Amino acid sequence: MTKIYRLLLLGLSFLLLVGLGFYIRQDFSFLLNDFWFTSGLLLLILLSLIDQPHFSKDTNVFVNAVTAAVSLLLVQADNRDFLFWSFLSFIIYLTVSSYTLMWLRTNPLNEENKALQLFSRLNRQIGRPEAIFSAFFLWGGIRQFGLSSNEFNLLLWFWIIFMILNIPALAKTIEGLFVAIKEKNDKEAIGQIFGVQSKNTFLVKLSENRSQTTRIFEFVEFKYSIDNQVKKGLILDVYLLNQEQWVKVLTTQEIEKIFSEKILFSSHTPDLVYKITNVPKTDYLERFIGLVTENSTIEKIKFVYNSKAPISEGQLLELNIRNERILYQVIEGTTKIELLENKNQTGLIIAEAIQLGTWNNATLRFEQYGWVPSINTPIYLATNIDKVPLEQSEYIIGSIPGTNYPVIINKEVAITHHTAILGVTGSGKSVFVRNLIGQIVNDTTKVIIIDLTGEYREKIADIQSIISEASGDNAFKAIEAIATEERKFANQRDYTAMKAAEKVIKTEFHTSIKTFLEGNTTEAIFELPDISNNSEIIEYTKWFFWVLFKTAKVEKSFGKRVCVVLEEAHTIVPELNSMGVSDFASKATVNSIAQIALQGRKYNIGFFVIAQRTANVSKTVLTQCNSIIVFQEFDKTSGDFLSNYLRTEYIKALPTLKFRQAIAVGKAFKSNVPMIFEVPELTT
Ligand SMILES: Nc1ncnc2c1ncn2[C@@H]1O[C@H](COP(=O)(O)OP(=O)(O)OP(=O)(O)O)[C@@H](O)[C@H]1O
Ligand SMILES: [Mg+2]
Repeated sequence: MTKIYRLLLLGLSFLLLVGLGFYIRQDFSFLLNDFWFTSGLLLLILLSLIDQPHFSKDTNVFVNAVTAAVSLLLVQADNRDFLFWSFLSFIIYLTVSSYTLMWLRTNPLNEENKALQLFSRLNRQIGRPEAIFSAFFLWGGIRQFGLSSNEFNLLLWFWIIFMILNIPALAKTIEGLFVAIKEKNDKEAIGQIFGVQSKNTFLVKLSENRSQTTRIFEFVEFKYSIDNQVKKGLILDVYLLNQEQWVKVLTTQEIEKIFSEKILFSSHTPDLVYKITNVPKTDYLERFIGLVTENSTIEKIKFVYNSKAPISEGQLLELNIRNERILYQVIEGTTKIELLENKNQTGLIIAEAIQLGTWNNATLRFEQYGWVPSINTPIYLATNIDKVPLEQSEYIIGSIPGTNYPVIINKEVAITHHTAILGVTGSGKSVFVRNLIGQIVNDTTKVIIIDLTGEYREKIADIQSIISEASGDNAFKAIEAIATEERKFANQRDYTAMKAAEKVIKTEFHTSIKTFLEGNTTEAIFELPDISNNSEIIEYTKWFFWVLFKTAKVEKSFGKRVCVVLEEAHTIVPELNSMGVSDFASKATVNSIAQIALQGRKYNIGFFVIAQRTANVSKTVLTQCNSIIVFQEFDKTSGDFLSNYLRTEYIKALPTLKFRQAIAVGKAFKSNVPMIFEVPELTT
């Protein structure tokens, strides 16, 4: 009901009534004295101002009845005849019964018991303002003028004009002249707002006779009566409640922007919702993901997935809090059933995403944001960022899935503070490291690969052994010589020969290492000579690392940074007390490597430790790794070990990481929060 309509209705009826009154009485005294006039006026006022256009509720009936009772009091005592008392009893019945109904009713009418339903429905009919006051009006007229008088006929005409010709409809027609489009608009409305879930989500009951279909992800416009603002919204949900169709509508600033913040419908009936049929081209629906739901925290949001866009683990999302763009990474999705009234239910997907923070384009890192978004905050796919400028020592190892947010590694820190690369077989560790090696080597950085599998010789074209064949042979002979002496009784050993042999080993290794470090080749491989004696292999490896460390410590590796790659680390630095340790296991080797792990940073030498599981790799070495890249991993002990670095949500995500996806965390990465990222396609 618009204000114009109400005024027209009141004005028209009042004029009609006063006009008739003056015609009958020839003066205006009736305005104050005559009962037919008072009750007639009440009829108009109630109809037009109290306004019960559709039906009268119990409360309306009560108000109508009380008003009627007051007007009955105007009837003078000598006029109180049988009809008067009948009216009074009728009014008393209405007052009492509607008041009682107001007290008794707790549910929607169709859920109440039969008796309540009966009385309520009956009262609605006989307690309508038209019904009550028409009766009064006619009765007043007859009393005043008698049944066959001209005056009564005139009043009857008024009543006929009002009730049968339908003054309300007449008012509507005239109103239509003022706002012709309005009527059309109301027909165009698909429904009416009946509830608000938070500032930005509205519940709309669809009207049964709407002419348009209503589907999810369609746009609507409406004027909200509380703030009198015209808003645009997106239908997010269509559901059935109490046999009625409802929709949930989201309003956001972003939606307004799709329509350039223009108002599309020329006039709105407040709270009626109109469907927008001409939607400009927009990617909004491709970006909209869902709404924040309950139990979200600063670190982790939960949201209802409600989107056309497919998402998956690792997906980067964004939302706005106080004009800041906060990014989150999807780590979990759970299905849920929500019960509606009357046993209806609806299936939902509740997803979880961990906060990465705000992206600082100057420092190229995520910064934690210290607050939580409110319920129903809309969430979008993250938009891409500008290309980032890198420093000399930095390299982009991959990006957050589906975006161009880079994961940047500091190559120097990755080496000097050691990095572990973990993951099940075939998850992409070796390919990743081989590519990284290509990126980190330069004039000052050299890489030595310890590969007992022979994979690298195959994959990296013409890679050299760090130890020449001749040096290897010499060193090996010296190791054998020492071993021979050691098999003798202590008092029979030739200690001078042993010392000399040791010197040979050291010199041979030192020369090889020096040649490599000072030469032009940037990467070399450490392989084992073709020998079968395990204890001698152990000695050989031990001595190599001993000399390598000494060179770093004493000669500063000739000004070079050295990165040692331990491929299949469990074969080189096994966990000594773990089960199934191979014969190769040796405390001496592990110790000399552990020394580099512990002190390497000081001497610019460090490790890339590659392993499938953490369980059988020396923890002395592994715990020195300040950065970790972990690909798919199922193993529980690895999960336990990694929980020192990663929150449980990330540990839980490990088994479902996709091929080429990994989690990066630690000192070498520009962002100090863990991130799921994707290694690009690399040539293997
Ligand atoms: N980034 C990549 N781009 C393209 N292909 C890749 C990539 N990473 C891995 N692959 C493919 O997957 C295969 C297995 O990868 P890779 O050898 O690196 O696994 P791994 O983790 O080292 O396994 P293992 O523990 O058994 O050594 C490679 O041979 C290659 O074909
Ligand atoms: Mg491998």
